[in-house]
Amino acid sequence: MSADGFTPSPPPGARADWTIDQSWETYSRAEHDVWITLYDRQTAMLQGRACDAFLQGLDALDLHRSGIPDFGRINEELQRLTGWSVVAVPGLVPDDVFFDHLANRRFPAGQFIRKPDELDYLQEPDIFHDVFGHVPMLTDPTFADYMQAYGRGGQRALDLGRLANLARLYWYTVEFGLMRTDAGLRIYGAGIVSSRAESLFALDDPSPNRIGFDLERVMRTPYRIDDFQQAYVVIDSIQTLQEVTLQDFAPIYQRLEGADDIGIAEILPGDTVFTRGTQAYARAGGRLASTPG
Ligand code: PHE
Ligand code: FE
Repeated sequence: MSADGFTPSPPPGARADWTIDQSWETYSRAEHDVWITLYDRQTAMLQGRACDAFLQGLDALDLHRSGIPDFGRINEELQRLTGWSVVAVPGLVPDDVFFDHLANRRFPAGQFIRKPDELDYLQEPDIFHDVFGHVPMLTDPTFADYMQAYGRGGQRALDLGRLANLARLYWYTVEFGLMRTDAGLRIYGAGIVSSRAESLFALDDPSPNRIGFDLERVMRTPYRIDDFQQAYVVIDSIQTLQEVTLQDFAPIYQRLEGADDIGIAEILPGDTVFTRGTQAYARAGGRLASTPG
């Protein structure tokens, strides 16, 4: 939804809820091959990097098979496990449409796949990001409930005019979240697991801060949409994430109305610090400096 509260209509060919048919039979051999390439290189790297829930979800959905997954097939298993399903959309959808899908345990996923020359970076989430990145975690019952609650919370944040704060929670958990385990930090964020470079950077690079999850602090922290994060937020478990977000956000939103944002790379006295980042990567100019042209 745009700032004036006006929701655009769906593009031609899409239904009122912005969904389209996946039309799985129309993917070309080359498109399936892009999926297989990305799938193989990510799964090889994510052993020992992604959290157990993600890796188990990948197995449960048997995502690789012969290429781009058919939503009809993965939905059978996903429905059985947590009652979620994946629906195809043409691209990004308006906020209120997105929240309505989540609140009804439907995950809207891009139908298209990136081109072979965009394996490492693309502007809009495609089917690899949306399905490989997001859907495995939806097989975890607690995470599945969290995502539905987020959808309801999104509708509420829109009404209360605090979507900017809530979006940061999504960003620092669902998209770029890390989790603490006995074996060390693990990735569960979809934006990380679907990116080779960020799967390395988020865990191993000395540049970013890695700090413990604090709901109100996260809601006050801006994020990068165009480059690796300058801070990653670490949860103790999916369970604790869910418990903290069950509380009523209305009083928090009220406090946030008078609160300043926190600097994107700042570390506060109350933070639990896993890594005090050097910020060397961001200071050197980020991906614009490292990928000329
Ligand atoms: N508890 C939140 C509210 O009152 C809703 C929510 C739940 C938001 C889970 C995000 C995640 O608005
Ligand atoms: Fe995403």
